[in-house]
Amino acid sequence: MAPAPAKYPTSALIDGQWIGSSATFAVLNPATGAEIAQVPNLGAKETKAAIDAASGALPAWSAKTAKERANILKRWFELVTADTEALAQLMTAEQGKPLTEARGEVAYGASFIEWFAEEAKRAYGKTIPTTVASRRYVTIKQPIGVVAAIAPWNFPIAMITRKVAPALAAGCTVVVKPSEDTPLCALAIAKLALDAGVPPGVFNVVTTMDAPAVGKVMTDDGRVRKLTFTGSTAVGKALYRQSADTVKKLTLELGGNAPLVIFDDANLEQAVAGAMASKYRNAGQTCVCANRILVQSGIYDRFAAALVDAVAKLHVAPGTDAKSTIGPLINADAVAKVETLSKDAVAKGAKVLTGGARSKAGPLFYEPTVISGVTANMDIVREEIFGPVAALMRFETEAEAIALANDTPFGLAAYLFSQNLSRAWRVAEKLDAGMIGVNEGVFSNEVVPFGGVKESGLGREGAAEGLEEYLETKFICLGAIDA
Ligand code: SIN
Repeated sequence: MAPAPAKYPTSALIDGQWIGSSATFAVLNPATGAEIAQVPNLGAKETKAAIDAASGALPAWSAKTAKERANILKRWFELVTADTEALAQLMTAEQGKPLTEARGEVAYGASFIEWFAEEAKRAYGKTIPTTVASRRYVTIKQPIGVVAAIAPWNFPIAMITRKVAPALAAGCTVVVKPSEDTPLCALAIAKLALDAGVPPGVFNVVTTMDAPAVGKVMTDDGRVRKLTFTGSTAVGKALYRQSADTVKKLTLELGGNAPLVIFDDANLEQAVAGAMASKYRNAGQTCVCANRILVQSGIYDRFAAALVDAVAKLHVAPGTDAKSTIGPLINADAVAKVETLSKDAVAKGAKVLTGGARSKAGPLFYEPTVISGVTANMDIVREEIFGPVAALMRFETEAEAIALANDTPFGLAAYLFSQNLSRAWRVAEKLDAGMIGVNEGVFSNEVVPFGGVKESGLGREGAAEGLEEYLETKFICLGAIDA
């Protein structure tokens, strides 16, 4: 077994204590299959203890001034940034992404801590012009309370800081359940938060293989006032239902089926660069990856050829290889899904232009693939691929492109490439998605709102909106001021 870096814990964190357990589970390196660490397999009892701790820590943490909390968060940001290399190595070991991407994710994750440290100081209320001469109306912002955060494996640091940083900045306390595939990054950044001065109980991490049991305790407990989840639409819907009885506030970042639309008047180079960035980042394992690449007839063949040339330059290898641009997928199910979707498309008449098979680099690697001639009857058009397969569909008119793009219950991200500003604006307004990239394949950052419409979720993360998700607005009516 290759041990996890001794620098970071492999125990869960409850009330400032690192908690072990006789029941553990293995964290595996997806590039090699080697075991990196064993972490505690906690359950309902420990989840309740974590909520007890978060609840107990809430009064003192929420009573601090925004500036006091911001100073602790700023220190956390500095510690995460100073540890970039060690965190990136850990992330590549447990998640698989190439080291250059892992370093980028540490910076991306840290940016949320910095942003929300600053933003919390601007959690303004309002004064509202009165309707009665003897009264005055004001609103104040207050932390919502204890937050449960369920995080995914594809961005094992950034998806946690995008939730925890605004929660802590707002004055909330949190219980995090990281993915069972990537608990080590969560524990590492929690340790750095403690080192920065986050008090015991404010930030708790429950590691588990039994997500349904932990999720049930989180949703059933009335002290948890907010649940934030990033993951599949199916699980998001279950958590939404389970949260009804305690009427929790929810942020749900769920699945996507992003269309990337390339019009005849696009700049070919920009379109290829955008499609490459959107499709192959993290080996295609992001919720905002282009799932369907819709290409207008006049540019279709040139775009397909240029995309194949660009894909030929990708290098499939373990993330620790300096040349790696495509690492392994997260597990065997992910590879099987990509394979099944590709085979279904080919069986229904699509053509593989490059790739289309498992890679020789190892059992969890899949060749970067381009499939042409994809049509609406293929599963690859309806399901989230979550792998390095570009599915090209041909269209003729703008109206057809919009109809195809919106023909999905999802609405997270969409992209369009056109040099015609009027068309770009017109189409951006008509696409049913929470985020639109115009001549851009990657747009996520800490200052802009991330989130979807339709079955892609509720709420926004990042930006000023990301702080609002952890605040309640309290209205105060000040009466009898003329007495
Ligand atoms: C995600 O895949 O959910 C996050 C992607 C991003 O932040 O860009």
